Amino acid sequence: MHTKQSIVQHILKNKQKLPGKQSAEAFASSNIALCKYWGKRNDELNLPVTNSLSMSLGEYGTRFTIRSCEERDDILWINHEKITDNSPIKKRLSHFLDLFRPDPDFYFHIDSHSNIPIAAGLASSASAFAALIKSLDQLFCWECTDTELSILARLGSGSACRSLWPGFVEWQKGTLDNGMDSHGVPLNVTWADLRLAIVMIDQNPKTISSRVAMKSTVDTSPLYRAWPDCVSQHLVEIKSALMTQDIEKLGRAAEQNALAMHATMMSSQPGIIYSQPETLKIMQQVWQCRAENIPVYFTQDAGANLKLLFTTEVTDAILARFPQV
Ligand code: DP6
Repeated sequence: MHTKQSIVQHILKNKQKLPGKQSAEAFASSNIALCKYWGKRNDELNLPVTNSLSMSLGEYGTRFTIRSCEERDDILWINHEKITDNSPIKKRLSHFLDLFRPDPDFYFHIDSHSNIPIAAGLASSASAFAALIKSLDQLFCWECTDTELSILARLGSGSACRSLWPGFVEWQKGTLDNGMDSHGVPLNVTWADLRLAIVMIDQNPKTISSRVAMKSTVDTSPLYRAWPDCVSQHLVEIKSALMTQDIEKLGRAAEQNALAMHATMMSSQPGIIYSQPETLKIMQQVWQCRAENIPVYFTQDAGANLKLLFTTEVTDAILARFPQV
């Protein structure tokens, strides 16, 4: 039986156990999945049922500064605010840090800055866990490979394993029970004209976490069994569209993928709906644009907000239609 602890020990077996520096700092970009990760085959190790594929948000993400601390507990600051000990976010990070303490009385002081709204379906946890693992790598001077860091970040939050690289990244689901083959792989693709814009509909933290929603979908949705086949088909289309820079093909597959994911959630028991009336209104506006030959598509994660996909050719038209992006 593999545990997070056993995987961490395996990866760090010949690495330094004590900090090699006073403090360390690292940044990781957020990523938005064009083909979603929705459902785990192993909840403890965050091993997914399917591959997924994302694009990086470049300068948008999370920066962590980390050092050891003299207190009797970890200290966490997020965007200049000290987080209380019983807050879920602090508990989740401290629990993850338990995997890396040189001894049980070793605590961390963490200062985190995100320039994206936290827990509003904008992948803030992905960039946070990726930045955290990068800063730990520097603090302890492990010198892990990006693939090892991706596996370690995955133990914190699945989608974080795609935040180790810029550009387009595929998370290979892997087949091994220990998850050592389940990590991000950067794609050799550049598409300078592709744009992703965020339509903020709700900045509040979501009422149900993606982790809980994902589990409930896998356990109760009768539609979930169709999901892996949908993903296989969407991945082929998305990868081929990236190679040929075909926005129509990319957008259609990404949009269908997001809608299919939300269909599985809606059919779980109890049903899960992240969309708000405004979400549906924007979707209709996107479809109206396409009816007028403006190639724009949407994708949606576990939140009410939408992300628009388009190319620079239509940036002006998009800004005129969606001034809130
Ligand atoms: C809808 O990576 O947040 O954004 O592994 O439980 O931490 P855990 O889940 P998480 O789920 C992300 C779900 C998604 C789709 C995606 O990013 O692929």
